[in-house]
Amino acid sequence: MEIRNISKIFSSKGEENIVLQNVNISFNKGEFITLLGPSGCGKTTLLTMMAGFQKPTSGEIRLDDEIVTKPSPKKGFVFQNYALFPWMTVKENILYPMKQQKLARDEMEKRLKKLIKIAHLQGKEDLYPKELSGGMKQRTAFVRALAGNPKILLLDEPLGAIDFQMRKSIQVQLEKLWQETKITTVMVTHDVEEALYLSDRIIVMSKNRGKIIKDFKVEMERPRNREFDEYKDYKRELENLLEIALKGV
Ligand SMILES: Nc1ncnc2c1ncn2[C@@H]1O[C@H](COP(=O)(O)OP(=O)(O)O)[C@@H](O)[C@H]1O
Ligand SMILES: [Mg+2]
Repeated sequence: MEIRNISKIFSSKGEENIVLQNVNISFNKGEFITLLGPSGCGKTTLLTMMAGFQKPTSGEIRLDDEIVTKPSPKKGFVFQNYALFPWMTVKENILYPMKQQKLARDEMEKRLKKLIKIAHLQGKEDLYPKELSGGMKQRTAFVRALAGNPKILLLDEPLGAIDFQMRKSIQVQLEKLWQETKITTVMVTHDVEEALYLSDRIIVMSKNRGKIIKDFKVEMERPRNREFDEYKDYKRELENLLEIALKGV
C-alpha cells in the first residue's frame, strides 16, 4: 500500500481544521508497521481513509496499483472497540465477510475452521460477544478481519478497550496470531509498549498536521524481551519522540 501526498481537511462553520497535510508513506509486504502518535493527531482519520471509509481531501492511496475508493474485504479492519455484531455469535461474526463475498459453502466452512483454530476459539463458536472475555473478543475481531482473505490488515488501537493488566498478555497473543499469518499489517496506537512489542517498523506522527517526525525499523528478535536494555532504550527514545509529537513540532 502507498499513501501519496495525502491531505485531509475538515471544515465546519467556515473554519478549516487541517488534520493531515502532505503525508507520504509506503508499506512493505509482510511487515507489521505501526503509526504511533498522540491522541488527536489524525491516526484514525488516516487509517479509515486507507480502508476506504472516507476520502482524502487531496492525494491518493493505492493498494496494488489501484486507487482505494471504497471499503472491501481486501482491506481487513479492526475497530478500536472491535465492533463485533452483538446479535451474531462468534461463528456468525467470522462468516459475515465471507457471506458478503458469496463464497461457496465448503470454502466458508474450511476458512472458518482454520480461523477458529488460529484464534484458539474452539468450543466458543456459538457464544455471543457479551459472553466473551476482552481477549476473546479481540481475537474474534482479528480473525473476522482475516476472513475475507485481505491483502492488508488495518488495526485501530486494537488493545484500546483491554484492561491495563491484560494488555501485555494480549499483545503476546496478538503477535502469535500475526506470526501465523504474516499479513501486511498497519496498526495505529498512542501506546509505546504496544508499538514496540509488535512492530517491524514504527512511524511517529506529530500532532501538527500528521507530520512524520521519525520512521525507523525495530531490529529486535521476536518475541521481544521487555527486560533487555535494547528494548528499554527503544522505549525511552519513543517516549521522547511522543513528547515532541505532542508539542506539535
Ligand atoms: N468527521 C470529522 N469531522 C470533523 N473533524 C474530525 C472528524 N474526524 C476527525 N476529526 C478531527 O480530526 C482530528 C484527528 O482525529 P482522529 O483521526 O480521530 O485522531 P486520533 O485517531 O489520532 O486520535 C481531531 O481534531 C478530530 O476532531
Ligand atoms: Mg483514533
